[in-house]
Amino acid sequence: MKNKTLKNGFSIPLLGLGTWGFGGREFHDPENNDVRQIEAIENAMTSGITWIDTAEYYADGYAETLVGTALKGAKRDSYQLCSKVWKNHLRRDDVWRAAENSLNRLKTDHFDLYLYHQIDESVPLEETLNAMNELVQQKIAEYIGVSNFNTKRLERAMQISEAPIVVNQVEYSLVCREPEKELLPFCQENDVILQAWRPLQYLKNCPLTDRLCEKYSISLQQLAIAWLVAQNSVTTISASQNWNHQWDNISAVNLQLDGDDIELLRREYPDQREISRVPLK
Ligand SMILES: NC(=O)c1ccc[n+]([C@@H]2O[C@H](COP(=O)([O-])OP(=O)(O)OC[C@H]3O[C@@H](n4cnc5c(N)ncnc54)[C@H](OP(=O)(O)O)[C@@H]3O)[C@@H](O)[C@H]2O)c1
Repeated sequence: MKNKTLKNGFSIPLLGLGTWGFGGREFHDPENNDVRQIEAIENAMTSGITWIDTAEYYADGYAETLVGTALKGAKRDSYQLCSKVWKNHLRRDDVWRAAENSLNRLKTDHFDLYLYHQIDESVPLEETLNAMNELVQQKIAEYIGVSNFNTKRLERAMQISEAPIVVNQVEYSLVCREPEKELLPFCQENDVILQAWRPLQYLKNCPLTDRLCEKYSISLQQLAIAWLVAQNSVTTISASQNWNHQWDNISAVNLQLDGDDIELLRREYPDQREISRVPLK
């Protein structure tokens, strides 16, 4: 898997495996098919998707439990883990507790990346970021980043944090264009990875995508992934429990779309949405 690398040395694969929906959604689903999802994580690793994106929020921690189970026998340097602190844990001691609980569920001693998941303005940004910096100092998190931050808040976070903010994970896809106006150019100019969440849901075929899928002999989902990662500073994560889809998604990050086609899709993909499902704050 190809990576994008920042000037400070942080390096991240173009595609990672998302785990939203693994183990349940907001809550653990006791009827969940754990075996299928553990296999999906193991298959992803076998196929070459070694970056796993999870969060304490997903299935109330159970997604992390499944990730920990799937990766139990794997060498720690053969995969990279990103987890996130939820908005009810942004106070200093809560950040520490949340991180420790996540690590226990993931059965590891460090995160490759730890993200501030969603904003709660009642907690000063300084307090949360200082706690996250402590995690870096204690080698609990190798790198830290944020999610769903608008440009202004990202800039403030970068000023506050001693450790570099290496990622802002936001909704970005052919459908959702909120980051395009301001945030993406800012990330490109300031050496921050914009990691696109939900790259595939809500996609629709149209004459333009039909033509391009035929031209490159790829699916609509592959076109959507190739379009995202063709852009400077953009990587993505997708949740797939299907091995064939995982292979398709891997081959999509190696595709080279023509520049004209990238611009056509940017301008003419229909029904573009201006505002993210989790609006940038
Ligand atoms: N930071 C945040 O606030 C935030 C918010 C939302 C999501 N996220 C993260 O982003 C990740 C990705 O977003 P998401 O899971 O919501 O949506 P997604 O990855 O855009 O879509 C997942 C769906 O796409 C299908 N799919 C994947 N590859 C496919 C392919 N090649 N062909 C056809 N279908 C394909 C999957 O089905 P199969 O299983 O059948 O392949 C699944 O139903 C999440 O899992 C989570 O880790 C972060």
